[in-house]
Amino acid sequence: MRALSSLSFAMLTRLSQLAERKIHGPPIAVLTAYDYPTARLLDEAGVDLLLVGDSLGMVVLGLPDTTGVTMEMMLHHTAAVRRAVKRAPVIADLPSHSYDTPEQALANAQRLVAAGADAVKLEGGVGFIPQIKAIIAAGIPFIGHIGMLPQSVKEEGGYKKKGKTPAQVEQLIADAIALDEVGALAMVLESMVPEVAAEITRRVKASTIGIGAGRQTDGQVLVTHDLIGSFPWFRPPFAKARADVAGETLRAVREYVQECQTA
Ligand code: KIV
Repeated sequence: MRALSSLSFAMLTRLSQLAERKIHGPPIAVLTAYDYPTARLLDEAGVDLLLVGDSLGMVVLGLPDTTGVTMEMMLHHTAAVRRAVKRAPVIADLPSHSYDTPEQALANAQRLVAAGADAVKLEGGVGFIPQIKAIIAAGIPFIGHIGMLPQSVKEEGGYKKKGKTPAQVEQLIADAIALDEVGALAMVLESMVPEVAAEITRRVKASTIGIGAGRQTDGQVLVTHDLIGSFPWFRPPFAKARADVAGETLRAVREYVQECQTA
């Protein structure tokens, strides 16, 4: 287990270079990883940041949404990714209800760092500032996440794009500014009207990492399963599959079964 003091200097330096990338580019490429071989391949391929997202509940563990993901699951997968990665900083998600109070948020952020995370992320803006302050005050690099929040899917009654009404735009901008003022290094902008994501990107010092939020952000993040076509049962419309891992797996397994059964 790593202590907070062992947060790697090289990774902290890379995280601090995000500010430079916002000004001079190139845009930041982020992908999710949950296991050793995938994380190792993504790191070797040059991804800037790896996210052990709580999306693992859906694309790896077969849960209906991310609300059932636990700290134990996040710790298990963060440790696997840490063992694989030499270069890219590893961000780990605080799962649903693991940050209800500032004390709980800090204790769980410290557990993720001990398991191998270089930074932590949680979903929410203005309503979570005490939690985020506690994390940042302890020296843990922090990434925000605003817009459509998958952990709130039940309260929201579905996955709904944000920034469609003046009230939503006002809330999104207030959330982004609050995260920026408290010292978030970066913030994920998920599923929001592209013009709102562009406006937030202009107004904050932190790097914005978009997903389903248009191209005018400082970087992009995707769930790797969507990018490589390894979760064929659902892919969001904005995610272009650049490989067909599911198809290739089916082909190889069918060939193997056929060969075994005809021997
Ligand atoms: O859990 C996750 O994979 C995420 C990304 C969609 C940003 O939070």
